[in-house]
Amino acid sequence: MARTTSLYVCQSCGASHPKWTGRCDGCGDWNTLVEEVSTGGAAGRPALGRGAKPKLTLSLLKGETQSPPRRATGIGEFDRVTGGGLVPGSALLIGGDPGIGKSTLLLQAAAALAQTHAVVYISGEEAIDQLRLRAERLGLTEAPVQLAAATSVSDIAATLDVPRGAEIVVVDSVQTLFVDELDSAPGTVAQVRASAQVLIRLAKRQGFVLLLVGHVTKEGMIAGPKVLEHMVDTVLYFEGERGHQFRLLRSVKNRFGPADEIGVFEMSDRGLREVANPSALFLAERERDVSGSAVFAGIEGTRPVLVEIQALIAPTAFAAPRRAVVGWDSARLAMILAVLEARCGMAFATCDVFLNVAGGLRIAEPAADLAVAAALASAALGRPLPTETVVFGEIGLAGEVRAVARADSRLKEAEKLGFAAAIIPQRKHAGAFTNMKLEAVARVADLLALLRRPSQRGTVSGPSLASTTHG
Ligand code: TYD
Ligand code: MG
Repeated sequence: MARTTSLYVCQSCGASHPKWTGRCDGCGDWNTLVEEVSTGGAAGRPALGRGAKPKLTLSLLKGETQSPPRRATGIGEFDRVTGGGLVPGSALLIGGDPGIGKSTLLLQAAAALAQTHAVVYISGEEAIDQLRLRAERLGLTEAPVQLAAATSVSDIAATLDVPRGAEIVVVDSVQTLFVDELDSAPGTVAQVRASAQVLIRLAKRQGFVLLLVGHVTKEGMIAGPKVLEHMVDTVLYFEGERGHQFRLLRSVKNRFGPADEIGVFEMSDRGLREVANPSALFLAERERDVSGSAVFAGIEGTRPVLVEIQALIAPTAFAAPRRAVVGWDSARLAMILAVLEARCGMAFATCDVFLNVAGGLRIAEPAADLAVAAALASAALGRPLPTETVVFGEIGLAGEVRAVARADSRLKEAEKLGFAAAIIPQRKHAGAFTNMKLEAVARVADLLALLRRPSQRGTVSGPSLASTTHG
């Protein structure tokens, strides 16, 4: 058998060195050497001499394939994100900030799966007693989950490497694991990668589902799940604001299901609860008929989600006015402000602008542009939007409002939640089914005209900046 040694490989140029140095001799970059295990260099490679026969059986795209069997947890939101259940032999990575609830989620999923499958839960972070306490708190002590506290990959692999053994294996977390061949500490890129590699290979061989937990660190995610993303079949991120109850499980990569799907949970004192109707949750504390608020009809994954976007505009005390945004892209905010200034004659140069996506959701869709513009304009003019109105549409630099995908699902969700009207981009056929009042706007200026229309009820007189902005 080939001897295993450590090598230090430069992550920018690929040069390998027998010893660690701060600077790579090959390319001159600093701090790019990472320890890797090598199995004896050239001696480890298979010989390709004369007479070596091609070993691959090549086949065509067309052929009989069965859709993979799925192991559903019964936790609807979790199954939705994984694409209908876990696929045997696959590896999943569940990433997220420390303390967000990954261990809680996986213990709940493990307990649900343990009713019908052999489930092993290996924790490198908590002792067995701590796991039991958590299970008690969650009311899951009766579930036949097999527990172990371990961090050595060779111990874990030896335990799991048996035919017809575990069907589901949870490893919490990959940052605590280590392989003996490497000198570096647990949690370093080399250890994380080598440990995951061993376990993923084992999962494929024995056909169990591997659920790996990985902490995301704020600083660039070094040694975090990022280095594993290409090795696993599915990457889920568990997100949320610490101060808020709800948590989002988002699939960012999925070889066996839709990517960008979300599952919504609420953290309670007895674990995570599914939220079947997220729009109702995000709109729960909304105040009606106030200026600076717009309800955006968005799409998260495959489902429509309604959220409130709030804007506040206040005279600034500083030379450089503040632009603070939570839950949205600040560059995008700058763009919308510029369009409102250049195309609609509004002036924000002497104002601080704050934008907040209520509830702690993060929106990435350009379709939110029009809702953001509506919230900003409503705040600036001190006039609320027409009551019970949702808004969506993308804004271009010329001030035009562009159509967005899945307008009908957005409208349907809004109607279901009792909204009576919608401000939307101009497009034929959209909303043909609905009883809602549809206001199609072609330009951002049309939106402002709508806001200035005198016939609104429930106008709240706010600190109107309209006079200052339109001199
Ligand atoms: P945890 O699952 O340990 O987070 P992670 O594994 O991502 O680090 O969850 C930690 C937080 O969740 C902790 O602050 C306590 C809270 N929590 C509840 O609010 N309710 C519960 O039932 C449980 C088990 C935890
Ligand atoms: Mg944990």
